[in-house]
Amino acid sequence: MYEILAKEVLAPTIKKLKVKAPLIAKKTKAGNFIILRVDEKGERIPLTVADYERKTGIITIIFQEVGYSTKLLGRMEPGDKIQDIVGPLGHHIDLEGYQKVVLLGGGSGTALLYPKVRAFYEQGAEVISITGARTKNLVILEEELESFSDRVFIATDDGSYGHKGYVTDILKDLLIQEKDIDLVVAIGPVPMMKAVSDLTAEYEIETIVSLNTIMVDGTGMCGACRVTVGGERKFTCVDGPAFDAHQVDFEELINRLNFYQNEENLVHSQAVE
Ligand code: FES
Repeated sequence: MYEILAKEVLAPTIKKLKVKAPLIAKKTKAGNFIILRVDEKGERIPLTVADYERKTGIITIIFQEVGYSTKLLGRMEPGDKIQDIVGPLGHHIDLEGYQKVVLLGGGSGTALLYPKVRAFYEQGAEVISITGARTKNLVILEEELESFSDRVFIATDDGSYGHKGYVTDILKDLLIQEKDIDLVVAIGPVPMMKAVSDLTAEYEIETIVSLNTIMVDGTGMCGACRVTVGGERKFTCVDGPAFDAHQVDFEELINRLNFYQNEENLVHSQAVE
């Protein structure tokens, strides 16, 4: 069992938990993720480790309440215990050799972006962070991004904060004006990652996306997290979660993510509220 030590509400449906998990904190690197179960009957929830403190053995997870299980997790309080956590899983991102990196986070994807922002900054790259949300009170981790970025841009759909529009508008301006960007990293809703990928393909800039697929076992056995990358079948849990954006079959990914939507809606309407 893993004890929750602290909780913070970052936005109405976005929560941050600090959890005691010494072995995971010891081994995690930027880009790794965990799979947790809230209780014995809980479904497995894949979550990126947003932060980790090796000395104290504490990991930080940030998540958006999008379904039944994440809503249950969001109701837990300091002192409560999470049933089990498996990790760190997946490959960490290779940071070497990049001088100027633009990192984009959409919605709660910003939480997954943050450890990568920090890692690129700490290894000496010039870091430009772009975060977007529907409206101002859903913008998260602005201060944290400021601490580990050379520049931070914010976009909101309704214009209540920062640029009115999409993160891709800001990215497009940067790509036009600055010719020395050598990597773009995008994490967020699949349509946003696809839009980033389409844009950077025009400018022939290497782009990485981190895919948040359905996951069950996290070991490459069940096939739930299957994606097609470069025409080949890959498993997000063991081959990812980061992939070359220009090789990802986004249409297939969108279809697979919608596969259990009816069941999720049913459970959601019956069991939570
Ligand atoms: Fe089962 Fe990846 S979660 S194969």
